[in-house]
Amino acid sequence: MKWFSIAYVALALDLSLAFAPSQQKALTPITSTKSLFAYPPRKNRRGGNEPSNEDENDDYDPILDEPEGRRGDGRNWIEKSSPVGIGKLVEESKETKEKETDGNYDLGVNGESFQTGELSERMYDALMSVAAKRFPAGAEIPSELEDVYKIYAMDITAKEAVKAALDQNGLELAINDEESQDEGLWGDIDAVYLIDPETGKVEEGTEEYDSFDTAVEEGDWEPGQPFNFVVRNVPARLKEMDISDLLSQLDPEGSLRNQAKEKGMTLPDEDVASLKDLEIEVNRRVKLAPYEAEDENSVYKGDGSKGYNIMKRSDLLVESGNVDGTENESTLMHVMDALVSHSCLVVDVTDGGTRFGDALKLSKMWKTSADFFDAVNEDEGQEASLPGMQVAEGVGSTYAKVGYANMGEGSMKFLETRVVRGTSNIVPSEAESIIGEDGVKSFVDSFDVMCAIGKDIVRVAVAAANMEYDAFMRLSSSEENSDLPMISGLTFDDNEIAGIADVDEEGNYVDAARMSSEAALLLTEELIDDGKKMNVNADEGGVNMSPHRICRYQGKSSSDKNEQLKETFGAHTDTSFMTLVPVAAISGLEIFDEAANVWLRPELMARKTWEADRAKQGLDTSAQTEKVIMFDGDEEKEIELPWHCRYVVAMPGELLQIATRNEVAAAVHRVVSVADGDARISAPVLLRARSGMRMNISKYFGDIETAGSLLKECDGMKLEDIHNALQPKRK
Ligand SMILES: *[C@@H]1O[C@H](CO)[C@@H](O)[C@H](O)[C@H]1NC(C)=O
Ligand SMILES: *[C@@H]1O[C@H](CO)[C@@H](O)[C@H](O)[C@H]1NC(C)=O
Repeated sequence: MKWFSIAYVALALDLSLAFAPSQQKALTPITSTKSLFAYPPRKNRRGGNEPSNEDENDDYDPILDEPEGRRGDGRNWIEKSSPVGIGKLVEESKETKEKETDGNYDLGVNGESFQTGELSERMYDALMSVAAKRFPAGAEIPSELEDVYKIYAMDITAKEAVKAALDQNGLELAINDEESQDEGLWGDIDAVYLIDPETGKVEEGTEEYDSFDTAVEEGDWEPGQPFNFVVRNVPARLKEMDISDLLSQLDPEGSLRNQAKEKGMTLPDEDVASLKDLEIEVNRRVKLAPYEAEDENSVYKGDGSKGYNIMKRSDLLVESGNVDGTENESTLMHVMDALVSHSCLVVDVTDGGTRFGDALKLSKMWKTSADFFDAVNEDEGQEASLPGMQVAEGVGSTYAKVGYANMGEGSMKFLETRVVRGTSNIVPSEAESIIGEDGVKSFVDSFDVMCAIGKDIVRVAVAAANMEYDAFMRLSSSEENSDLPMISGLTFDDNEIAGIADVDEEGNYVDAARMSSEAALLLTEELIDDGKKMNVNADEGGVNMSPHRICRYQGKSSSDKNEQLKETFGAHTDTSFMTLVPVAAISGLEIFDEAANVWLRPELMARKTWEADRAKQGLDTSAQTEKVIMFDGDEEKEIELPWHCRYVVAMPGELLQIATRNEVAAAVHRVVSVADGDARISAPVLLRARSGMRMNISKYFGDIETAGSLLKECDGMKLEDIHNALQPKRK
C-alpha cells in the first residue's frame, strides 16, 4: 500500500511524457501516441491552466474512433474486439450490469514505449532467483527449464504492459490475479515481433511469431530484448481511477521522482523549504482563492465521491487500525483524499446513528452558546462583565488570548475560552456567571470530543506522510532481500517459494508502517495541547494553548443580495494542527477545495448526507431534529437532537502541513455572511501545540535523511517558537 499526493500525480504524469523511455528504469509507458489517449483530465489544477489539448481528448473515443495503429506497425493501439472474433468472450456477470466499456479488447503494444526489454529482464532475473531455491545449492538449472522461464517472463511482461496500457485508457484487466496464474489466460497472443537491440526497431523482414513459445524457441529471444506484440480478446472493464494504482504503475520505484530531482524540478516536499517559505506559500494560496461568494443553493457541496464521504468517528480510533499496529488502509486513504484534495474531512460522531453520546455533548454546547449570546445581546451589563480579549495569564505566549470581543458594530461577537490545564474550569472565569456550571461543563466536554477527533486525524495523516516518505524504512528490520523486485502477478507454480520472498519484503514494510503510526501517535500525545497535564513537560503553561472559540455572526437581511453574499471573515489559514468546526445549524463556513477549485460549504455537505440517510429510512428530510432515545446521566430520555450535532468538520492547519512534510496543505477557509437576517453561531476548536515541547525529527518523523528542509529547520525548535514564526509580522 502506498499513498501519494495529488501534486505528485501531476508531476509523474508530466514526466511520463517528458522522458525518453530508454532513460527509464521502471515501467513508465509513453502516453503521447495518439491511439492510446492520455489519462482522464485531472481536476486538481488551480487557476484554470488546464492543458490546451484537453478539448481534443474530450472528443476522442478510444473505442469508436478508428485507431491509427494496425497489426504489426509497432504503434500502440487499442480497440474493442470484434464480437465475432476468435477466442473467448468475457463471462457476463448476472448481478452486475455490464457497462458499455466492459468487454474484450485487442491491443497493439510497442515494446519500446512499454519497455518490454528491461521489464522482461527484471522478470526473468526474479524468476531465476526464485527458481534457484528449488534446486540444491550449486546445482545448475536444467537448460530445458530455462526456455520455460523465458516464455513465462515474456508472458508476464506482456501482461504487465497490457495492464499499463489498459490503465492509460481508464480500463483494468477483468481477471483477478488468482485466475490469471496460468500463462495465456489473460488474452490471445496473436503476433510477436522482436526488436533489433542494435537499431531499436523491428527490421524489415523480421519474423512474425504467433506465440511466446515460438518467439523463444525459433526466434531465440533472450530476456532483455524488447518486443512488440498484438494481443486479442483481453477482458477489461472500466476502471475507477485510483491515484495510488496509477502511480504504482507509473513509478513503482520512485525513479521518476529521482529523475525530477536531478532535473531541478520542485517536488511537493521542497517547494516549501523553510518556515518563511511556508508563510509565503500560505499567503499565496489565500490570495488565489476568489473573493466572490455564492448562495446556499448554488454553492459547491461536494460530489459524493471518496474524500467527500463522511467518516465514521470510530473508524479513526487507534483501536480500529490493523492488529499489526498499522493504520487501516481504507481509513488512511479516505483521510488523505479528504485532506489533500478537499482540505477538510467531515466526521459523524454518531457512527451513522448508532451511538449518540458525543452528539449529546455537542448539543449541550450549542444550547449553552445560544443562551450565552442571548444573555449578552439582551443585557449590556452581562456583556460589560466580560473581560476584553487579552493575553491569558500564565501561558507564556502572547498569542494565547482569552476574553470577549464585539466587532463590526455587533455583527461579530467572539468569546475565546480555554480550559485551565488539568481542571474542568475555563477562562475567562467571568463567563461562568453567565453560562453557569453546567454551561462550563458543556464547553469542556465538547472540547474533549472535538480534540479527540482532531488528534486521531492528525495521527492518521502524519502516519501516512511518514509512510509515504519511507521515514522508517531504513530503521526497520534488515533488508537482505532488497534487490529482489516486487512483481505483481508473479505466481510461479511453487507459490510457497515465491511467497517467501514476498513475506520478507512485506514484513519489512509492515514494520516501517507500524513505526510510522507509533511515531505519529506519540506526536499527537506529546505535541497537541488537549488541556491535560503532561508530567514530562515542565514548561507547559497553566492554560490550554488550544482555544475553543464561540462566535456569533449576524446575518444580513434578504433584501440586500449584495450584502448577503459577502465574506464576513476573510480567507485565511489557521496556525493549528487541526481546526475542528462542529457543523452549525446555519451554514457559513467555506473551505477552498483544492481539487474542485471552488469554495466548498462542508456544513451543507453534511446536511445533504443527513437528508439522504433520512430518505433511506423513509423519514422526513426537511426535519431539523431527530428523535433519539438515550441515557442522559442515569435517566433514559427521548431527546430531540438538532440534526447538525452529529457532524464535525476537520480542517488541516499550518502545523499539520509541517508535520506531513507539505503533503497536507493548510486549509484556506472563510466565513460568508448569513442570509435572511439569521445569526450563525459557530464554535471551532483550534488544536495548537503544547508550549515547552520541542520538535524532534528522530522521535516523530524517523530517518533524518527522509525529512525535507522545512522539518530540518524545525528540529529542536520549541513549538511556540514555530507558532510565532508563522504569525503575520504586522501584528
Ligand atoms: C478498515 O476499515 C473499514 C471501515 O471501517 C472496514 O470495513 C475494514 O474491514 C477495515 N479493514 C481491515 C483490514 O480491518
Ligand atoms: C529526540 O528524542 C530522542 C528520543 O526519542 C532523544 O534521545 C533526543 O535527545 C531528542 N532530541 C532532541 C533534540 O530533543
